Formats: sequence, structure tokens, C-alpha cells
Amino acid sequence: MRNTIRQHLKEKVPEDLLPSVPSSFDILGSRSGAVAVIEIPDELTLYEKEVAAAIQAVHRNVKSVLSKDSGRDGEYRLRSLRLISGDLDTEVIHKESGCSFKLDPRVTYFSTRESTERERIAEMVRPGEDVLVMFSGVSPIAVCIAKKHSAVTVTAIEINPEAHGYAVENVKLNKVTDRVKPILGDVRDVCPSLNTVFDRVLMPLPKGAHMFLDVAISMVRPGGVLHFYHWAPEDDLYGEAQRLVVEAAAEAGRRAEFVGGVKVSLYSPRVYKVRVDMVVH
Ligand SMILES: C[S@@+](CC[C@H](N)C(=O)[O-])C[C@H]1O[C@@H](n2cnc3c(N)ncnc32)[C@H](O)[C@@H]1O
Repeated sequence: MRNTIRQHLKEKVPEDLLPSVPSSFDILGSRSGAVAVIEIPDELTLYEKEVAAAIQAVHRNVKSVLSKDSGRDGEYRLRSLRLISGDLDTEVIHKESGCSFKLDPRVTYFSTRESTERERIAEMVRPGEDVLVMFSGVSPIAVCIAKKHSAVTVTAIEINPEAHGYAVENVKLNKVTDRVKPILGDVRDVCPSLNTVFDRVLMPLPKGAHMFLDVAISMVRPGGVLHFYHWAPEDDLYGEAQRLVVEAAAEAGRRAEFVGGVKVSLYSPRVYKVRVDMVVH
């Protein structure tokens, strides 16, 4: 039986290095084509091609293997992903919960690990709502909401032109063009030009969303909900996020009330990506 990646690597990688072979990594795509994104530990760099070949032998749909060569950085929240083996074309169609997302992880942000959060948000939306997704990427949240609710409108604003291009394609691919409107631009410029307010505003940019709270609060109708994402230590998950929203609301002459919080994912040891839900009166 040579069904696991480590079994494939026996006799190709020194025995003492086998425990360093990562046991988990991300696969984006579908049966018809996927890319694997893996973090190669330093001691395995000499054997990265063998590791990539073993991944492709076990996961037959993986056409390219990419190495995470940096953390996420910059305005577009991208990381450096280096092709170790396979197809130079790393565009895929990722499938989850009845939705399809076309994207290339080398030019756009996308996380397979946030599918549960997308589902949770879509569950919270009520029929008839107007929703604003700031920092919308390839529009996975907007599409997920619109797929679940036929009577909603979702406006999705994204600054990375490549991500916006995929968002436009994803809205068509998922047949939700009647209810999702992707807009290319900086939320700071686009939001005021919309001349409207929303029942629900999402801010899925844990690094720096607080700098846009003034804009976001002005987009929430009185009594509407703001979903604010932040990074927080495990011993105080929601305190700072809550305080930031309450203070920004007060500066705008509004009052924000904490109505819920959730741990979205582990970001680094003892630090979580969290979401706080705030009603803005
Ligand atoms: C953490 S990613 C989340 C993307 C998407 N919501 C998702 O869940 O896949 C944040 C996104 O915000 C975009 N962004 C950063 N600053 C922005 C701004 N000022 N206006 C609009 N989009 C921005 C980035 O390009 C990036 O795609």
C-alpha cells in the first residue's frame, strides 16, 4: 500500500526526514483540476520535488504544487507562491457548498479554511436584506450569500483588479448576476459614491479593517449589523474589536452594541482571527 504521501517518499527522502513531511496542506480546486499549496520545512528543501511528486501521486487531480515562500503581505493580502512542480497555469475552479469560485491563488487572496465562516454568515442573512461586503476578493462571501437567498442584494467592493475580474466571472458562473454587484475600487472612495445604506456590512480584512471603520459605520442603516474581523489573543478574543467599533461609532455620533462574537480560525499560536457582530444604532 503506497497510499500516503510519506509512504510514497520512503527510499526517496532520508528516513529521519520523513516525520518533517507536512501532514496537512491546502488543496484548491476540484476533481477536474487543483493546486496544492504546501509549506516546505527548511530541512526538506533539497527534497521538495520528491514531496511534490508524492502529493501528485496521491492526489491525482493536483496539476501544480506551490510552495508558500512568505506570509501574506501588502494591500492585496497575497503571499509569494513558488511553483515546485506541475502546470504553470495555476488557475482553478474551487468548489464548496454548491458554489464555484474561479481564482488563481498566485494573484488573489482565497482561503479554503474559511468555508465554514462563509456558511455561518450566509445563515445570518435574512430575506430582503441589502448587504455590503467590503474587501470582497473573488467574492466568495457575496456568492455564498446570494446562492442561499434569492431575495437579497449584495454589493462587493475589491481593490485588486485581478480579484475583481474573478469576482465578475464568479457571479456569472454561479448565476447570481441579478443580486451580486462587484465593484472595483478602494472602499474609501467607492462607499461614499453609493449614496445608500445597508442592513448588513461585512469587513473581512483582519489586518487593518479598523482603519476603515469610519467609512463602514456610515454605510450601516440605523439598527443594521456590522461584522468586524480582527486578530485577537485567546485570553481576550472580543474586547479590542468591540472597543474599536464602539469608539468609531461614537465618533460618528452613533452607538454600537455587541451582539455576538465568533472564533473564525487560528492565525498564529494563541492568536485567532475573530469576528464581532455589532448592531449600529
Ligand atoms: C483578507 S482578503 C479577503 C477577501 C475575501 N473577502 C475572501 O474572503 O476571500 C482582503 C481583501 O481586501 C482587499 N482590499 C484591501 N484594501 C482594500 C481597500 N481599501 N478597498 C477595497 N479592497 C481592499 C484585498 O485586495 C483583499 O482581496
